[in-house]
Amino acid sequence: MFPERFSDLPEYAFPRLRTLLDSHEPGGEPIVMTIGEPRHAFPDWVRDVLAENVAGFGQYPANDGTPALQQAIADWIARRYDVTVDAARQVLPLNGTREGLFNALIALCPETKAGKRPVVLTPNPFYQVYAVAALAVGAEPIYVPATEATGNLPDYGSLPETVLNRVAVAYICSPANPQGAVADRAYWSDLIALAERHDFQIFADECYSEIYRDTPPPGALQVARELGAHPDRVVIFHSLSKRSNLPGLRSGFAAGGADSIARLKQLRAYAGAPLPMPLQAVAERVWQDEDHVIANRALYAEKYAMADEILGDIQGYSPPEAGFFLWLPVDDGEVATMKLWRETGVRVLPGAYLARDVGGHTPGADRIRVAMVADKEEMQRGLIKLRDCLYR
Ligand SMILES: Cc1ncc(COP(=O)(O)O)c(C=O)c1O
Repeated sequence: MFPERFSDLPEYAFPRLRTLLDSHEPGGEPIVMTIGEPRHAFPDWVRDVLAENVAGFGQYPANDGTPALQQAIADWIARRYDVTVDAARQVLPLNGTREGLFNALIALCPETKAGKRPVVLTPNPFYQVYAVAALAVGAEPIYVPATEATGNLPDYGSLPETVLNRVAVAYICSPANPQGAVADRAYWSDLIALAERHDFQIFADECYSEIYRDTPPPGALQVARELGAHPDRVVIFHSLSKRSNLPGLRSGFAAGGADSIARLKQLRAYAGAPLPMPLQAVAERVWQDEDHVIANRALYAEKYAMADEILGDIQGYSPPEAGFFLWLPVDDGEVATMKLWRETGVRVLPGAYLARDVGGHTPGADRIRVAMVADKEEMQRGLIKLRDCLYR
């Protein structure tokens, strides 16, 4: 009666964490550093924009996004990446990146590649929607280690030709959750060249692109344009969730070649749930404003500095280049998570919960992920407890 294709899915990370910890008393006042939910304030004026546009709840929303929102996004892409995109044809507003990362595969993954079942590449560990999208379309997900040994990004070029020829789509996350690594221009160039050679698409999850230390991470679309790659080679996914501390707004976008975006729009016209009109009006204003993003980044800069100061002398600590996660080395992530909870009340996520076992090895099983989203004072208490419990 029910499909087989999702039967091997492990339980999602957070219920799994509750199963691990919730029958144990915390060893102190709980400090939650698990979920990547931004807790800095979003801009005040969001309330006014919402109020001014509330009548829009009386309308069915524009499926492809309002022209004004499409344009605000295209303008942002031009400012951020110096890339010109046609707002009407190359941009699709989304309800956050997650649904887009899932639905794009349904719209764009072919039934076969090189006459065989298509392959979808994902880093390992990774943001879990990539794998479930692959399963949904009947593709074979291949989990490629993204560990310290590979610069914390997957080395897709190391896969055998027979696999590469079957690749339909490669997901890549930069800045990477959970590793905090950034794909530099050389990485993007190599990956784009590989995709051109083997004729696959790159889905670049760049939802952490605006949370970085000093240098803005280069974008996949930007590098693809510079290289003169096929216009549909890259689809980028961005979000207001992290950039603007609006995870509840559910607003993001996909941008790329006009043919890819047309296919995404077609699927959305049948089955999509577009963003309500008042929220599209809010998103339009938020993409236009950069001041709050700069202020937000300054708050994260203080947190990076705090983490470096408290944890800097731990063996194997590598400061995140971007994003808001610490990816800390331990012997065993589950054991460390349990010890930390029972002895201090600090709650973190075992790295293995974000990864898949491949050939008896789970990349990231020797890590914990720590989200730097709490206010500074709480984060400081949490990190000091963490250091004293696990590393002293
Ligand atoms: C790597 C990554 N991609 C995508 C998302 C989805 O974000 P949203 O749907 O809020 O844009 C998240 C959220 O945590 C994430 O960490």
